[in-house]
Amino acid sequence: MSEPSATSNDHRTRPSARPWWKDALVYQVYVRSFADSNGDGVGDLAGIRSRLDHIASLGVEAIWLNPCYPSPQHDHGYDVANYFDIHDEYGTLDDFDALLADARDLGIKILMDLVPSHCSIEHRWFIAALASDPNSPERARFYFRDGKGDAGNEPPNNWQSAFGGPAWTRLDTDPTANNGKGGQWYLHTFAREQPDLDHTHADVNQLFDEIFKFWFDRGVEGFRVDAVAGTGKHPDLPDQPPVGPEVGVLDITWMNEYTVFRPEGHDVWRRFRTTIDNYESSHPDRELMMVAEAYAVRRPELVKAFTEPDQFHQMFSFDLMLTPWEKHSIERAMLDPIAILAETGVPPAWTLNNHDIQRIVTRLGRADAHLPEVWTNNNLALSRADVDLALGERRARAMTALIFALPGSLYLYQGEELGLPEVFDIPANRREDPVFERTGGAEIGRDGCRVPMPWTNDASSSYGFSTPRADGTVGEPWLPQPAEWGERSVSEIDDIENSTLHMYRSLGEVRDEFAVSQPLEAQTIDIGPEVVAVRRGELVVVVNPTDQPVQLDLDHPEMAITQPVFASEPAEMHTTGVIPANSTIWFSS
Ligand code: GLC
Ligand code: CA
Repeated sequence: MSEPSATSNDHRTRPSARPWWKDALVYQVYVRSFADSNGDGVGDLAGIRSRLDHIASLGVEAIWLNPCYPSPQHDHGYDVANYFDIHDEYGTLDDFDALLADARDLGIKILMDLVPSHCSIEHRWFIAALASDPNSPERARFYFRDGKGDAGNEPPNNWQSAFGGPAWTRLDTDPTANNGKGGQWYLHTFAREQPDLDHTHADVNQLFDEIFKFWFDRGVEGFRVDAVAGTGKHPDLPDQPPVGPEVGVLDITWMNEYTVFRPEGHDVWRRFRTTIDNYESSHPDRELMMVAEAYAVRRPELVKAFTEPDQFHQMFSFDLMLTPWEKHSIERAMLDPIAILAETGVPPAWTLNNHDIQRIVTRLGRADAHLPEVWTNNNLALSRADVDLALGERRARAMTALIFALPGSLYLYQGEELGLPEVFDIPANRREDPVFERTGGAEIGRDGCRVPMPWTNDASSSYGFSTPRADGTVGEPWLPQPAEWGERSVSEIDDIENSTLHMYRSLGEVRDEFAVSQPLEAQTIDIGPEVVAVRRGELVVVVNPTDQPVQLDLDHPEMAITQPVFASEPAEMHTTGVIPANSTIWFSS
């Protein structure tokens, strides 16, 4: 097991005086897959508590928990049945409080995941809406509409679900007397178990006010806000203009101007910000925040709109996550968000992995990963080219070493510190992502980046994921783990010199020492045609995205006073100005 670098008495001291979230290192925990304390094959809060030493060893300052509210788990917690409690498989509010207290002792804050765009079909409001008449107040908190056509058999409009199939589901429960219109339809931007909430309704506004207060009172320091792109609709719900045949089934929703990036959404974010600011002004010791989740890659104007001072504190930058492994693409992916920072003062929230995206080791190991045209804004359907995992891991390490140097905060996703690849061999009958079912298996979905974490090489405990029950048995993990998971486990790679896990721990340290102390700014510098080079104050970081070593000119004025202080391939850190193929080196004076 790893030696924790922080103990309960060793609160992490911030190397910078900025509000913590502006340059924090945050670790995303997919609760279901992190650690299972009671042997039922499902991760839980007590499991997270038992593994906090691992998170602390990376030098992180906050944990973002994927949704852990009561939920029938049709979209693994993104279908919330009750925003004020903990899902029974994951524990209780007492377990949550204990986790928060333990984390706080390690100097680690907790962020929750807020799901405003929709709730669950098991939310009491939706149950009440089903039991009520068409046009009743109970239905007004959602988007219930009569169908088109004489018998109301056609959906109210042509909108598509982001998981495939129509965005409307018809009730078979309505009285046939609905003026001959039959059962109403309700709108769901995602799965049919996720009815969209109407944020123009006063009850919905009040609900979210109460949610913020409830979790802030418990000691939560902020929220990752889910699916902000699709929150807010054109009031008339007009048909979406037709899209071309080249648009993939999972992309149609995101091109719908009547439900994506709507001004009505910004009204919601302004209300949320007012709630947070009001709470903060009566709790001056707190630094609260919310970070927006939307795919605004290569669209700086959107990032600016979401991070106006009266809206989000930050927005995820997925640009580097989705960029090809090629100099100009990497530069653009880095410079767009940095330009916004220079203009608005809002630092990016950088990300290379999350629970919706194929893991970076697999993506960058693709035979076409270096081609500018593989750049895509589609978060699911990526290249299907062959994968070289060793190359992918090397490139992933180099990209990670870049992103740790940049101004802003950085969100890591559990397992990336182990260099875990995407898992493909999940049998169809074990796939759980609604995307798989809703596309009839045409899209495999996101299960492959959600496979339970390997902690040890012991297959009998699901590689340390599950703590055995009293009788010594463990339940099957909720998603199957591949046989090589043991070799990739925390305890195994902790014994390997220069493993990816060691690299992440070192990066946390050099980030504090050489990056966080620098101003919140960065520029690219031209020190050679092959490399990506960034200067941040006294730190210079050079990425070689090519398959050949590159010799830098150490007499170049930008390099004159710098020494290598970190290399993504430590065995290849030279003082001669050589940047090995597919690697990154940090230089400082
Ligand atoms: C966000 C979440 C994703 C979820 C969707 C619907 O994109 O990250 O996991 O399926 O919203 O809530
Ligand atoms: Ca469990």
